[in-house]
Amino acid sequence: MGIEKVGILGCGLMGAGIAQVCALSGVETVVREIDQKFIDKGFGTIEKNVKRAVEKGKISAQDKEAMWNRLQGTLELGDLKECDLIIEAVIENLELKNGMFSTLDKICSEKAILASNTSSLTIMAMAASTNRPDRFCGLHFFNPVPVMQLVEVVKTIATSQETTDICFEFCKQLGKSPILAKDNSGFIVNRLLIPYLLDAIKVFEEGHASTEDIDIGMKLGLNHPMGPLTLLDFVGLDTVYSIANIMFEEFREQRFAPPPLLKKMVLAGYYGRKSGKGFYDYSVDKPVPSILGI
Ligand code: 3HC
Repeated sequence: MGIEKVGILGCGLMGAGIAQVCALSGVETVVREIDQKFIDKGFGTIEKNVKRAVEKGKISAQDKEAMWNRLQGTLELGDLKECDLIIEAVIENLELKNGMFSTLDKICSEKAILASNTSSLTIMAMAASTNRPDRFCGLHFFNPVPVMQLVEVVKTIATSQETTDICFEFCKQLGKSPILAKDNSGFIVNRLLIPYLLDAIKVFEEGHASTEDIDIGMKLGLNHPMGPLTLLDFVGLDTVYSIANIMFEEFREQRFAPPPLLKKMVLAGYYGRKSGKGFYDYSVDKPVPSILGI
């Protein structure tokens, strides 16, 4: 079975990015949001990305037009009923996700595959809200979706091999590189990334080094595109705090416990780039450290 029509739940950072790569790759794409303003915002980001891609000669103006002809926004879950694959990319609220999955399970074809882009919840916790755990898996994309190559395809103990194979093929059709992960909180990448990011906060919190030196150290010392504190600001401190709490709850291991400074920064509204301030202050042209000493 090929995937000809995809539904996306959520048109935020991840949902819009996933919608862009799906529609550009030739798949009919319907994005569902709860308010038109979120669709407008997400589609605005997509337009900015594809306009730049046309200017740089990466895609043609016709490709861009064809992409928009394949992309549709909706406020109705019912408009996703003919989709072959639905990828959920809403906030990490299990009850909210399961409410949508349970409705979609009833209205979609029995062949349709349901998938979640969750970064930390277990897939089985969502598959259990449907009558199709064999056709349920994780499809974990990375931010920024149009740029990042990887997708983790997450197989639960109930996901069928056919579902996994279809999803692998689909990711390749999007131009991505899929890898197989078991259904453990954080899968492969976040299981390694989250303790690393939390440790970087501790290194700063304990006064071992400055914001900039921690970032320069990991950037130049390991050839990472961003240092860990810049990456925290990029992903969102609120997001990382929520992921760490979910992983700590799941494993009860100290390495997933959010350090006190992370909690304080989230309480202060220092979410990173999206709020204008995190480990760096983005209100100036060249971001400067926002916390100078503890
Ligand atoms: N959306 C779309 N395209 C983007 C983009 C965005 N948000 N940000 C950058 N790009 C594109 C640019 O347009 C540019 O494209 P071009 O080559 O066609 O001009 C290209 O990416 C490179 O961008 P820049 O030259 O502006 O900047 P950099 O070279 O510094 O790259 C970066 C930016 C790609 C974000 C790079 O710094 C990077 O790879 N950072 C690490 C990102 C990362 O680790 N992501 C994973 C986060 S963890 C996660 O997502 C899991 C979740 O569960 C938490």
